[in-house]
Amino acid sequence: MTIEEMRALLQQSLKPKRYEHSVRVYETALEMAEHYHADVKKVAVASLIHDCGRQISKEDSVAKAKELGIPVDPVEEAQPILLHAKLGVYYAIRKYGVSPDDREVLDAIRYHSTGTADMTQTAKIVFLADLIEPGRDFEGVEALREASFQDLDKGMLLSYDNTIRYLLEDGLLIHPDAIAGYNQLAAKTKTARSKKEKPKKKN
Ligand SMILES: [Fe+2]
Ligand SMILES: [Fe+2]
Repeated sequence: MTIEEMRALLQQSLKPKRYEHSVRVYETALEMAEHYHADVKKVAVASLIHDCGRQISKEDSVAKAKELGIPVDPVEEAQPILLHAKLGVYYAIRKYGVSPDDREVLDAIRYHSTGTADMTQTAKIVFLADLIEPGRDFEGVEALREASFQDLDKGMLLSYDNTIRYLLEDGLLIHPDAIAGYNQLAAKTKTARSKKEKPKKKN
């Protein structure tokens, strides 16, 4: 399937606002792919259809996932909107012709909402483009836009920081994949920082 065919199919499947968001994520992700010399084809497909699982409403997503044999974890059960990422993997294969072996594209869709440890460059770009596309407006978005074009891990860590704070403030659950992603990058940053710091003198 060509990217134009995917785009047409996506437009038929999603509400106009969600479709327009998808196109902005696609355009932002392509800019990032160029900036980071990433795999443009993988980034294009994954970013365009990252929200294809949204064709199922939040209300129907738990039942639909179970019907399709997709495992639903307790955090997804409590916050079913998260399931659009797993449902997206299903539709990417069945509806948009992505190969079931294309881990690069499928994992980028699978983890675009929570993040996780050991993400590929494609997955990080899709994750960040989703948050910084021009239609997004939240406190700190400008700093995140800047960080995302400086260093992907810097952008990822800032996103986890923002998201985890927001989830705590709103009394929402934090998905274990997000914590795994945060911990990995926080540990890396901490190690880098402690190597730079000189040992403190004792008086
Ligand atoms: Fe999404
Ligand atoms: Fe999205």
